[in-house]
Amino acid sequence: MASENAEQVLAAWETSSQYWNKHQTLIEKMYAPLTRALIEEAQIVAGQSVLDIGGGAGEPSLTIARVVGPSGHVTFTDPTAGMVKAAREESERRGLTNIEFHKCAAEKLPFANDSFDTAVGRLSAMFFSDVSTALREILRVVKPGGRVAFLVWAERDLNPFFSVITEILDQFVPAEVEDEDAPAAFRFARPGKLAKLLQETGAGSVKERTLKFDTEAPIDASQFWELRTEMSDTFRTKIAKLVPDEVEAVRDAVQKAAAVYFKSGSMSFPSQVLIVSGRKDV
Ligand SMILES: C[S@@+](CC[C@H](N)C(=O)[O-])C[C@H]1O[C@@H](n2cnc3c(N)ncnc32)[C@H](O)[C@@H]1O
Repeated sequence: MASENAEQVLAAWETSSQYWNKHQTLIEKMYAPLTRALIEEAQIVAGQSVLDIGGGAGEPSLTIARVVGPSGHVTFTDPTAGMVKAAREESERRGLTNIEFHKCAAEKLPFANDSFDTAVGRLSAMFFSDVSTALREILRVVKPGGRVAFLVWAERDLNPFFSVITEILDQFVPAEVEDEDAPAAFRFARPGKLAKLLQETGAGSVKERTLKFDTEAPIDASQFWELRTEMSDTFRTKIAKLVPDEVEAVRDAVQKAAAVYFKSGSMSFPSQVLIVSGRKDV
């Protein structure tokens, strides 16, 4: 059952990858504050060897490749073939030479013990199929004393970038009871939940902090509708259950409800994430 679920999660990301590729530039811009915070939390500097877990269409790997520079190295990983392809192509377009790409899940990393100075995951830990195994595996490949840092969404209500659509869609497609431990965007939204797991898997100096930021992009409300309903498998699946008139009604209602987050053709949603970090004991 668990492996069936893991396969479904990966299949959904495989479908999503074409849209994350299509919107790569916007996603990079919207979540740039997250990349900066993760780099700061993990204390990434020039010359380091950094592992990115669940790197999606390329971030934070592509930014970190610039930060670590020619004397450093980035190892991008993601279990979704489409994501690896998108990230690799973007890296080639940018002419980066200090980055390599691996198609693999966090639960089974093809690297020797003590290989990396640092490991990071931006918005990926909540999708791990077996979180404890994944965290142990990540700690295994980090050098003693090395840092790990994960960035996950805080509660949905604090993130209207999600809730403004969910609240309206739920009126048309009743929400199913959520298993709060199943892979999903808000699985680690409860403060302390991921930090406790990280501590239990043996990391030291475990910390958690909240980061408030604005999800900003130069798009209007109709482009927001397209972006969100393409990026999210949850939204795509629910919308597929609606007849065309209902889709139109949901879209109009969402654009109306979201209007407050748009000014002069630009989007700005107040947003919140948690950053959970720790160190591999020496
Ligand atoms: C929300 S996306 C985040 C991508 C990217 N890090 C970003 O912030 O733009 C989540 C990513 O987690 C990846 N993922 C899903 N299951 C995973 C697993 N078991 N191990 C590592 N990554 C996983 C997905 O393929 C997807 O690319």
